[in-house]
Amino acid sequence: MRDSVTVSAPGKLVLFGEHAVVYGQPCIVTAVGQRMQMTMRKTDDKTLVIDAPDVNLRGYSKPIAELGKGNVPKSAQFIEHAVRAFCETHPIQGGLTIATSSEFSAKLGFGSSSAVVVCAIKAMALCMDVKLTDRAVFDLSFTTVMDIQKKGSGVDIAAAVYGGTLLFKRAGELIEPLAVEIPIVVGYTGVKSDTVTILNDIAQRATRDRKRIESLYSAMGELTMQAKSAIERGDWKAVGELMNRNQQLLSDLGVSSEKLDALIAAARAAGAFGAKLSGAGRGDCMVAIVPDEKRPAVIDAIRRAGGESIDVPVGVEGVRAEAPERDI
Ligand code: PMV
Repeated sequence: MRDSVTVSAPGKLVLFGEHAVVYGQPCIVTAVGQRMQMTMRKTDDKTLVIDAPDVNLRGYSKPIAELGKGNVPKSAQFIEHAVRAFCETHPIQGGLTIATSSEFSAKLGFGSSSAVVVCAIKAMALCMDVKLTDRAVFDLSFTTVMDIQKKGSGVDIAAAVYGGTLLFKRAGELIEPLAVEIPIVVGYTGVKSDTVTILNDIAQRATRDRKRIESLYSAMGELTMQAKSAIERGDWKAVGELMNRNQQLLSDLGVSSEKLDALIAAARAAGAFGAKLSGAGRGDCMVAIVPDEKRPAVIDAIRRAGGESIDVPVGVEGVRAEAPERDI
């Protein structure tokens, strides 16, 4: 049993099948090499104390017995609910202090809420000496996030737990690693998008236009399976073309934006095999599949079109304990 532990989990980018994955279709996600880090220390006073300066939360404290009750500020809710979920199955004696720091800004849409939940569950298991499989960490994290957000597929959580590049179905019905290095360029629009608002908006529209939206989702699912084969063959030209087709479907769904369209068009014109938005859309990031020799030109084109190029490795390791442990 340890008195304190430091863990970290990666962010994610969805490469194919976002939105459709919420409704049962497969998607492809890759873990990105910017990580959420969390240090957890056991204390004696039956209180949870959280310091999360990235979301302006300092010295937040709540009795362990009260977790999840009363008014929980937005910046504390993912950690507080994760600790409560763990304690429900593995009651703890004392209290905890938790400090987080993130290599990526919450604005990017890399999935910081899910990464922080995965870190909290993993850190608690290590601190309390409870053996949890990756699957158990995924399941407990998924339940926690669904309790708060009500909507979502769990794709961010799978990337944070397992890392690598994954073929994934909602709630972890399928989690299949794809062992490849992906020649990717990432551009950020500068616009923060709110996933739950967008999901609710599309769900609302689906009540009027169900057939059309369902057919978009099943077309996205088919593209994702074709993309899986193309990725496994390393046929990046085909992967790029499939991205372009996926982008068209996302645009038809109504989740692209002028800025995303501009960055995507710039990347294609500068020699990318293909490009699309990544994640919920209407902002956040776009991704492009790019031949090595065109990389500098594509990065430059994204900047000229008003985007920020984000230089991140992909397919990185999932949640892990960090050594040496930092002091908090
Ligand atoms: O968290 P975001 O904004 O990158 O979106 C993830 C992908 C969605 O399919 C839009 C939502 C989900 O939970 O799968």
